Amino acid sequence: MGFTTDILFGTATSATQIEGGNLPHTWSEWHKIGKISDDASPARANDHLNKWKEDIDLMKSMGLQVYRFGIEWARLLNSEGVVNKAAVRYYRELITYIKECGMIPLLTIHHFTNPLWFEEKKGFAKKENIPMFLRYVKHVVNSFGDLVDEYITINEPNVFAVKGYYEGVFPPGEHSMKQAFEVISNMAVCHIKAYKMIHKLRKAKGYKNTKVGFAHHIRVFEPKSANPWHKICVRLVKYMFQDVVSSAFYLGRFKFPLKQTSKVHFGYYSDFIAINYYSRSTVSGFSDGVRKKAYINDLGWEIYPAGIVKCAKEIYKIIPRPIYITENGTCDNNDSFLCRYIYDHVKALSESNLPIKRYYHWCFLDNFEWAEGESARFGLVHVDFDTQERKIKRSGRFYSEMIKNKGVTD
Ligand code: NOJ
Repeated sequence: MGFTTDILFGTATSATQIEGGNLPHTWSEWHKIGKISDDASPARANDHLNKWKEDIDLMKSMGLQVYRFGIEWARLLNSEGVVNKAAVRYYRELITYIKECGMIPLLTIHHFTNPLWFEEKKGFAKKENIPMFLRYVKHVVNSFGDLVDEYITINEPNVFAVKGYYEGVFPPGEHSMKQAFEVISNMAVCHIKAYKMIHKLRKAKGYKNTKVGFAHHIRVFEPKSANPWHKICVRLVKYMFQDVVSSAFYLGRFKFPLKQTSKVHFGYYSDFIAINYYSRSTVSGFSDGVRKKAYINDLGWEIYPAGIVKCAKEIYKIIPRPIYITENGTCDNNDSFLCRYIYDHVKALSESNLPIKRYYHWCFLDNFEWAEGESARFGLVHVDFDTQERKIKRSGRFYSEMIKNKGVTD
């Protein structure tokens, strides 16, 4: 299998999942109150804060071309309005080195974690807090805008809201569908305003090629059986989990049950489509399931490579923009099926006739997998969390070879 040469390959990470260090944010609190299944603390993670150079060197040695990473809001702003100069220096050194190593940086502004000072005011659940997020965005652009052209404003707003405000397995642990939709509504306003702000600030400084998007978690939903009720559930679940998010974030169109909590106009609010794709859900009620005899990963998620193209096609119809797969990967604790997973997904993409420009594998290395702690391994690089030793896995070598050869020979 050979692939179109203009796809650039790399990996993705997020700040909380790899950096380590004690910070006052929602995930360190979530750990304190015993909500991480294996009791792992984000204060450990991958100690990337100290080992960042080694990690970027490893990426370079694997021939990676692009890198998606995150800024930790609670690190940049220890309290509202006070920029931490050491954090600015740290991220500037990191970004400069990513570029020196020949990779294009893609910066994620918000990836699941809030500083406590923001959360204490009820975070994204209150529209009054939107300006606080926008001030953070402004600090990000003022601090790194000369180094970075490409931005993800918010990562997976639907997952953040559903897990945190409806299922209660992410902070703040609420169980209210109403609140989950309020959060998504406010986040959509945040994204649209941030989209405009990043363009405006960079333009004022004369920087060109600004690209802004949000990372949308999308999946394929299918009914469990031909039962008409299951079919209705599919439409409802897909509409609420995915479709309303697409139309609000991409187009500024707020469909019920979302509400426009602050005035925004219709328009196109993404310069590229950013898709995080993992799995297919089999629906028979208001929660998702997996079909019988499905091919599953170590967390029980179905592996369904054709779905990545189905999802990309669907979004491309809403907003015809270049497509970045900003996350795709799987939990494979023994590195036994990840090579196949990568091969099948990349093959499906390269045969799709869609303008796929980037593929960021999730994840570069085994890390702090939110409520699963250190027990779910998604990395191309193995991490011994006690010694922090890194070792490229077989799948990592496979990925690297695939990039070098611009394809795979069966
Ligand atoms: C998507 C999230 O953005 C990322 O943080 C997470 O680790 C992966 N899914 C795997 O669950």
